Amino acid sequence: MSISLIGRSIGESATLLLNEKAAILKAKGEPIIHLGGGEPRSKSPIDAITGLSGLLTSGEIRYTPVDGTIEMKKAIIRYMDEFYGRKFEPENVIASSGAKQAIMVALQAILDPQDEVIFPAPYWVSYPEMAKLCGAIPVPVLPEDGSFHPRMQDILQNVTTYTKVIILNSPNNPTGVLYSADFVKEVVEFCEKEGLYLIMDDIYHRLIFDGKKRVNPYDYTTVYDDNSKLIVTNGVSKQYAMTGFRIGWAAGSKKVIRVMSNIQGHQTAGPAVILQKAAIGAINGVQSGVESLRLTLENNRNVMMDRLAGFEGVKATRPDGTFYVFADFSVYDKDSKKLSEFLLEKVRVLTMPGIEFGLDGYLRLSTCGSIKDITEGIERIKWALDPNSPNELYIGERKLVRDWL
Ligand SMILES: Cc1ncc(COP(=O)(O)O)c(C=O)c1O
Repeated sequence: MSISLIGRSIGESATLLLNEKAAILKAKGEPIIHLGGGEPRSKSPIDAITGLSGLLTSGEIRYTPVDGTIEMKKAIIRYMDEFYGRKFEPENVIASSGAKQAIMVALQAILDPQDEVIFPAPYWVSYPEMAKLCGAIPVPVLPEDGSFHPRMQDILQNVTTYTKVIILNSPNNPTGVLYSADFVKEVVEFCEKEGLYLIMDDIYHRLIFDGKKRVNPYDYTTVYDDNSKLIVTNGVSKQYAMTGFRIGWAAGSKKVIRVMSNIQGHQTAGPAVILQKAAIGAINGVQSGVESLRLTLENNRNVMMDRLAGFEGVKATRPDGTFYVFADFSVYDKDSKKLSEFLLEKVRVLTMPGIEFGLDGYLRLSTCGSIKDITEGIERIKWALDPNSPNELYIGERKLVRDWL
């Protein structure tokens, strides 16, 4: 029995493997510090829980329309109006099982085999694999100036007759960089001119620091209704710390949303009704949790950057948002997977190898944990790599002796 070509093209995720390894070690009582995670630690908003519990206790948990309940769609429409100033109709929006599924069905709706999907690098780990799942070709674009700010000229150099869609994620996972309004404008205008789709993955758009402003792609659109090829995706995972609820959404033309619904209808059908209820509660409820999460993450970012500043040889771009710092550790090891494994093995700190995001020599460090996690995590990494640090380190009662430098 042979495995499909597409099946074989999907790589094993080093990120998941490392996560699993760390979970096993933790279960054995090892003092793991998790700087790998992509989920806030705060609790779900109370409005999410009350929304869900009411329906749950009714015991009547049924299928919903494939593209989400009317109430869910209304909540998404309200969200799109509040944050983008766009008044959509129910046929313009779809609720999916996570923003991940929303992006996946969007790609399935628009891609043919051999089409090309452009996205700036470093990138979210799933974009290349999602393109491959559609039989399409991922085209990551690394800014030539060595920054994490993509430029239109970098994108243009990679556009071919096969290019069908550009994906932008800003603020960006893994770099935390917020793309400039000028750049987003250029991309929106270019896509409209060339008839390309543009997916704006806005999952972190309320987690921006330093008073910077989120960029609204609709400010630059001139094409509306069924001719619009702009698709905006978002979800409750990050902003409401509701990763386990698996609710995301997309907004776009009625034409594309209809096709996405058809596809989703044969994959998973409508997202679980109780989870939609929780998402509605979060979107329509008290929003103070989002701001307090944002403030916590900004403070954590400051602490992480402070600690990294005292780390000779390590360079990190100051993130404008998200909960990641993408730091250049290439002076210590150019092979980020090896370095990540080494740090987990020697000092029990979980980091994500940059190669997973399309850039080797870097590590993605999460600021989702506590200040203690961040300071102790960086201290342990420093101890493991920096020959100038003392030869011994205590982790609780355990004495580590460095015998590898
Ligand atoms: C850039 C980006 N887009 C989309 C997602 C998917 O989010 P969800 O949990 O809603 O599927 C993630 C999650 O890590 C992400 O980092």
